[in-house]
Amino acid sequence: MDENVCGQVKLVDNILQAEDFVRLRIEAGFAEIPVEHARKALQNGLLNVSAIYHGELVGMGRLVGDGAMYWYLQEIIILPNFQRKGIGTMIVNHLIDYAKANSITGKFTTIGGVSAKGKEPFYKKMGFDIISTGIKKMIEIE
Ligand SMILES: CC(C)(COP(=O)(O)OP(=O)(O)OC[C@H]1O[C@@H](n2cnc3c(N)ncnc32)[C@H](O)[C@@H]1OP(=O)(O)O)[C@@H](O)C(=O)NCCC(=O)NCCS
Repeated sequence: MDENVCGQVKLVDNILQAEDFVRLRIEAGFAEIPVEHARKALQNGLLNVSAIYHGELVGMGRLVGDGAMYWYLQEIIILPNFQRKGIGTMIVNHLIDYAKANSITGKFTTIGGVSAKGKEPFYKKMGFDIISTGIKKMIEIE
């Protein structure tokens, strides 16, 4: 693989296929979800971005929220062979740019998310605070 991988990665908006979304989630160790469910999630998200290296999908990221005030990062996933090459940073910056472009100018806006365990340094390096006041509840769906 070339040294300057990051320089050859293209970010493309809203082309991610549900099947690839499911596959990348599994690669990252997240729970498998039905393809139909993945399709709906992509449709209802604000923006999804695919990282393409020489025609191959090597990473993804999603931004969900209300499109005006609240923004949440979801599924920032880079395939193992392509990690630590700056692609995750590229994707998060791209999603942040979208949030900035769609926020009221001259005001602050907040981008949130939940870090996978052990991945906090990645978000910290990008200027995110690791907060202890977040709330989360797992609800069993029957
Ligand atoms: C976490 C993840 C998205 C990072 O993407 P990436 O492209 O590998 O990250 P980058 O190359 O942009 O990393 C930038 C910096 O973040 C930090 N960082 C990245 N991954 C890290 C890790 N696993 N542990 C500690 N620090 C990490 C490093 O400081 C790194 O800079 P360096 O390589 O110069 O030391 C990627 O490892 C991944 O997809 N992991 C599996 C899925 C996952 O857990 N996603 C997070 C969901 S919340």
